[in-house]
Amino acid sequence: MNILAISGSPRKSRATETLIDEAIKGVRSIDPEALITKVCLIDYDIRHCLNCLKCRDTETEEPYVRCTIRDDMDRLYDIIDNADAYIIGNPLHSGYVTGLISVFLERIVWCFAEPKGSVMGIRGIPKPRNPKLRRLGTIITNAKVPPAFKMFCNDAEKQIKAVMKSCLNAKATASLYAGAIELRGVERYMTRAYNMGQKLAG
Ligand SMILES: Cc1cc2nc3c(=O)[nH]c(=O)nc-3n(C[C@H](O)[C@H](O)[C@H](O)COP(=O)(O)O)c2cc1C
Repeated sequence: MNILAISGSPRKSRATETLIDEAIKGVRSIDPEALITKVCLIDYDIRHCLNCLKCRDTETEEPYVRCTIRDDMDRLYDIIDNADAYIIGNPLHSGYVTGLISVFLERIVWCFAEPKGSVMGIRGIPKPRNPKLRRLGTIITNAKVPPAFKMFCNDAEKQIKAVMKSCLNAKATASLYAGAIELRGVERYMTRAYNMGQKLAG
C-alpha cells in the first residue's frame, strides 16, 4: 500500500503531526511494507491558485495536468497520483481548513480532475482524471471544542472529503476528530489515531 500523509498544521511536531504519526504506526501494524510519505505543508512553498484555468481546459489521458505555477507542488504530483490512500491532518482555524490545506486543495482541483462530471443537471464539475479508487483518512484537531459540539465548528472535514472525493476518487474511510486538545491533551486521542490508521490500511 502506498500512503501519502499530509499535515496542514503551521506547527511541526505538535498535535496534528503527532496524531498523523500515530495513524502511520497503525498503518504499519497492518502493512509493514507500506510505502508511506509524510508531507508537512509548512515545509513546502506552494502558492495559491491563480484561476488561469489552463489545467481545467487541458484535455489529456494523463492522470494529472501540471499547474502553470512552478513551485513545490512539482514535488508532489507523482506522489499524490501514486497514492492508494491519504491521511490528511488539519487543525481547525475558525472552524475551517488552514491556509496551507486550502491552498493545497485548490491546487489539486483541476490538475487532478477534468470538468466532465455532472450532478443534478449541473455540468462541468470535477471528475477525477485517474479513475483509480483510493481511500481517505482525516484527522481534525482543535484547541477548545469537544467532540460533542463538533457539528458547530468542523466545516474543514466536509471540504477536505468533498475535494478528495471529486478530484482523486478518495473515499472517506476513517476519521478522527481530536477536539479540545488544549484541555484534554493529545494523548487522549492516540489510540483512536492508531486505530484510524489500521482501518485505513485494512
Ligand atoms: C488562526 C487560528 C484559528 C483557530 N481557530 C480555532 C477554533 O475556531 N476553534 C478551536 O477550538 N481552536 C482553534 N484554533 C486552535 C487550533 O485548532 C489548535 O491550536 C490546533 O488544532 C493545534 O494543532 P497543532 O498543534 O498541530 O498546531 C485556531 C488556531 C489558529 C492559529
